[in-house]
Amino acid sequence: MQISVIGCGYLGAVHAASMAELGHDVVGIDVDEAKVAVLSAGRAPFHEPGFDELLERNVSAGRLRFSTDFADVAGARVHFIGVGTPQQAGSYAADLSQVNGAVASLLPHLAPTADGPAVVVGKSTVPVGTAAGIAAQVEARGGVLVWNPEFLREGFAVQDTISPDRMVYGLPTDPDAAETARAALDEVYDNLINDQAIPRLLTDYATAELVKVAANSFLATKISFINAMAELCEATGADVTQLAAAIGHDDRIGHKFLRAGVGFGGGCLPKDIRAFMARAEELGVDEALGFLREVDSINDRRRDHVITLATDLLGGQPAGKKVAVLGASFKPDTDDMRNSPALDIAHRLNAAGAHVVVTDPQAGPILATQNHHDFTIADTPEQAITGADLTLLLTEWRHFRDLDPAAIADLPHQRAIIDGRNVLDPQQWRTAGWTYHAMGRP
Ligand code: UGA
Repeated sequence: MQISVIGCGYLGAVHAASMAELGHDVVGIDVDEAKVAVLSAGRAPFHEPGFDELLERNVSAGRLRFSTDFADVAGARVHFIGVGTPQQAGSYAADLSQVNGAVASLLPHLAPTADGPAVVVGKSTVPVGTAAGIAAQVEARGGVLVWNPEFLREGFAVQDTISPDRMVYGLPTDPDAAETARAALDEVYDNLINDQAIPRLLTDYATAELVKVAANSFLATKISFINAMAELCEATGADVTQLAAAIGHDDRIGHKFLRAGVGFGGGCLPKDIRAFMARAEELGVDEALGFLREVDSINDRRRDHVITLATDLLGGQPAGKKVAVLGASFKPDTDDMRNSPALDIAHRLNAAGAHVVVTDPQAGPILATQNHHDFTIADTPEQAITGADLTLLLTEWRHFRDLDPAAIADLPHQRAIIDGRNVLDPQQWRTAGWTYHAMGRP
């Protein structure tokens, strides 16, 4: 099938390449010329495991191309919208300018094909009610809209796109239009539905939009729940990792997303819970999501806690002290630094006068090309730790988890580490002479 994907960021670029991998003929459209040039050469503009190979294979096979010109969607029957919906400056609400811009640029090029009307598929995370507004515009051009939210995780984006755990189709109320949209999307995802038997849920627009933000809100709540327990453990000398392991054995609770630490970041969870609260307020049901305010505050407090702990360990005065920060991306296996706890903490310690040295295997080289940071970037953890008064592990890259505390014991000025992700073996670090501090553990 001929497909277009509007927006070639973390979501759209991976979606475009994955659709080509399924055998479709795909054009990815983005307004960023530099990004389109890199993608067209079969190279990934960001770090995502497995994406380079997928891109290279499908670009060279001729199934995948990229363009800045919306006219190049001509001939496509299905058009995916995968642009970003960041938090608006000065507000909790989502900034829909990219979605509105993508729709406005696409509409003049919507045309039926021999197989039926054009089908527009929304994948971006949007406030509930957005799809209904877009549907009216698409229908006025003879097309049909379906809302098909994306649940991919960065670091597993390719796997999550080709083998998601479920699919949700938010369909129009008109039965004929709904049938057209369902049939077209079933054809796109034929492999997922028929070969992989992935569950597919048919809903209305509002439910599909809500499923996405409900899922991210639940995940954020789980993380803040365990971080709240970490606060209790800190006040009582208990161990949150043992607490999480113990409650997780209950199937109804489960072990996943119960890792206490510096909290959640990234381009999704933080802004999605805020946009959800903003939308609930518009709908007059803000009380229903009052708990998300707490989820957000608990998350912020984890960053504050690390700053307080670091300041104490530096004798109450960070100024002039050297602090090594291991990690800059918001989680491992990505170079994405949007709302990264690690980067936020690095900036705040730097602003307090510390000499901060940051290292990150993928985000580090990006930071080094940006000139608005006043901290130092080191190529390796060993370089960062050398001469440090305090070391902070804030993103749990395998590379950092595997550090041998005995082998690096002579590098720092002070053998003191804060394990912001609870991933190191306290006994091993203490035996090697380090003062070891974790999150919610004695
Ligand atoms: C998240 C969701 O997990 C995806 O399902 C969703 O599709 C995506 O947002 C999106 O809306 O596009 P992602 O932002 O890639 O995916 O990251 P997560 O793996 O959810 O991690 C988010 C943050 O939570 C990270 O900073 C991570 O370090 C932190 N985290 C995660 C914890 O602090 N503790 C945990 O136990 C788990």
